[in-house]
Amino acid sequence: MKKEFWNNTVVVITGASSGIGKALFEELAPFPCQLVLLARRAGDIPEPKSKHKDTVIHRVTCDLSDPSSVRDAIDWIRKRVDRVDILFNNAGITAHGRFDSLSIEVFQKTFATNFFGPIQFIRGLLPLLLKAKGNIVTTSTVSALYGVPGRAAYSASKSALHAALEALRIESMELGLGVSLVCVPYTDTALRTSGLDAEGKVLSEAPAKGKRKTAKEVAHVLLKVAEDKEARLVTFNLSGKFLEWMRFFSPKFLEKILYKKLYDDFKSH
Ligand SMILES: NC(=O)c1ccc[n+]([C@@H]2O[C@H](COP(=O)([O-])OP(=O)(O)OC[C@H]3O[C@@H](n4cnc5c(N)ncnc54)[C@H](OP(=O)(O)O)[C@@H]3O)[C@@H](O)[C@H]2O)c1
Repeated sequence: MKKEFWNNTVVVITGASSGIGKALFEELAPFPCQLVLLARRAGDIPEPKSKHKDTVIHRVTCDLSDPSSVRDAIDWIRKRVDRVDILFNNAGITAHGRFDSLSIEVFQKTFATNFFGPIQFIRGLLPLLLKAKGNIVTTSTVSALYGVPGRAAYSASKSALHAALEALRIESMELGLGVSLVCVPYTDTALRTSGLDAEGKVLSEAPAKGKRKTAKEVAHVLLKVAEDKEARLVTFNLSGKFLEWMRFFSPKFLEKILYKKLYDDFKSH
């Protein structure tokens, strides 16, 4: 992390009340910058343990799945800051369930939070981002790289976000805007307790088995990506790279692996 990079920046973080977004906030608070923190529970975000005396923190209550709430948040931000250097487009929910058991309302709610809300929000902040020749860093997932069994709604919502933001990146090639998609592996956060089950009830699932990143580890990668406007699609580890490449080289082999590896998980949903 280039410490001087962050001095005097205006940084917007969606989903700053928990997990990866909260870790980003805590890592940035020691720098003299303006931090605009969004979440439905933004009002409950406590003061960080360590904070620079010149750091300014704005807490903006926003429900990304509600267009009028997103509109209010955009208006609020436009009145208070004159540019946005970095937007961490981080908030999101997961949804667990097989394609044939997921209700259409769960598809809609997942897309409202992970796709339509972020798209509306980014469009609203685009003039401020372009003014700063800023950078949009999206917390995405390896599940956006291929349809993952048991995660049809989540995978689809994040893949759709990839496509829309890739289009934005190409369209703004000469305007100095950075647009990156960071495909995060399993991370220890509240994602599985706050997500939706197939019927739209709160998920409350145990954390994923096996190796998991900490929110702080992921935040460090996101901060490095934010400093590099050339970053595009970022995967973390071997399994991310495997998915990234195998979807082109041998989708049939990849599907067999996903079937075997995730069988117990998607059979039970
Ligand atoms: N954890 C993982 O294994 C993992 C892996 C790959 C990608 N990711 C991605 O990482 C991002 C952050 O998730 P996390 O793992 O840190 O989970 P988390 O601890 O559950 O945090 C999710 C954040 O998103 C916010 N959020 C959820 N719904 C929202 C809504 N309707 N409007 C506004 N904010 C909303 C939550 O705030 P409020 O509840 O206060 O609104 C919270 O701050 C997500 O986009 C997720 O897809 C996570």
